[in-house]
Amino acid sequence: MSTTELAAWFAPERERFDTACAGLPASARAWWRDMQPRIDAALRREGRAPRLAAALAALPALRATRCVAGPVLRVEGACAPATRAELRSALLALAPWRKGPFELFDVAVDTEWRSELKWGRVAPHLAPLGGRRVLDVGCGNGYYAWRMAAAGAALVLGIDPAVQALAQGVALRRYWQGPAPTLLPLASDALDPRLACFDTVFSMGVTYHRRDPLAHLGELAAALKPGGELLLETLVIAEGGAAVLEPGERYCAMRNVWQVPAPRTVLAWLAACGFIDARLVDLTATSTVEQRRTAWMPGHSLPEFLDPRDARRTREGHPAPLRAVFVARRAAGPL
Ligand SMILES: C[S@@+](CC[C@H](N)C(=O)[O-])C[C@H]1O[C@@H](n2cnc3c(N)ncnc32)[C@H](O)[C@@H]1O
Repeated sequence: MSTTELAAWFAPERERFDTACAGLPASARAWWRDMQPRIDAALRREGRAPRLAAALAALPALRATRCVAGPVLRVEGACAPATRAELRSALLALAPWRKGPFELFDVAVDTEWRSELKWGRVAPHLAPLGGRRVLDVGCGNGYYAWRMAAAGAALVLGIDPAVQALAQGVALRRYWQGPAPTLLPLASDALDPRLACFDTVFSMGVTYHRRDPLAHLGELAAALKPGGELLLETLVIAEGGAAVLEPGERYCAMRNVWQVPAPRTVLAWLAACGFIDARLVDLTATSTVEQRRTAWMPGHSLPEFLDPRDARRTREGHPAPLRAVFVARRAAGPL
């Protein structure tokens, strides 16, 4: 029953993309029809469905008077103290909150990541998003997808297999008035060449979670129209040493980091996957200002993941996290 309730919360997301699909090529509409059983299955197998559906159902009815998609995604409006307490506890039931920050009716959701810092490193290098069709692969709770919508994109689709993170975006959507993305429980292996209709595709923080990074880049290329722009953000190691670090069991406590490439390796991968004009536009060490434990993500975070005697190393002895942003274009013609 609770999986049905959770699915009901995602119905408006599906309807929104249904409507947007009318303006997409026939091949993309055929892709969308084929996605329906996948989305159904993703929602059906979500083990946390009872908790997520209950938290969404507990969100109080409130009317926004203003929505601001700045560094903090903020919903403003009148809210009595008792209702604010209800809102806070419903939102806390959707924890851990990793990407943000958000503020809803004066409830400040202080997320693990200060994601506005990454957006600040990414946005200046993008072709203007106004009027573009945009895909955010690995969108999490949709923080960046909201920023993309606010930048004037005609369509923003965010996909992520993590239903728990998407449910946070569904909570924000409950109150948000104004340009907003569509968030769907799909992984990048759902992308195929029938899409080829997005003007800009983002993949941020996903490549190193894939065993086969080139297959992932191929999926991103398939979703882009020829000439479209890719924004790829990933962990890297500093140039001057190995081509790729294979961290083994854990990197920064994460079990699912398969490889951390040097920037030159990423550029070679991009060329091998049909991208042109690829360039590294930002290289920034992750700081404990950007990633840290908060009341909304009470587990361990970057300060606990670094070597207490030498912050240039992770607890496992690997180089501390360094993140790179690349921009490239899909070459013209078939892949
Ligand atoms: C490190 S987080 C990055 C989130 C956000 N893009 C950012 O840059 O802050 C990685 C996200 O990618 C998602 N993810 C992992 N594998 C994926 C795949 N194959 N396709 C789409 N998303 C994936 C995870 O569920 C998670 O939300």
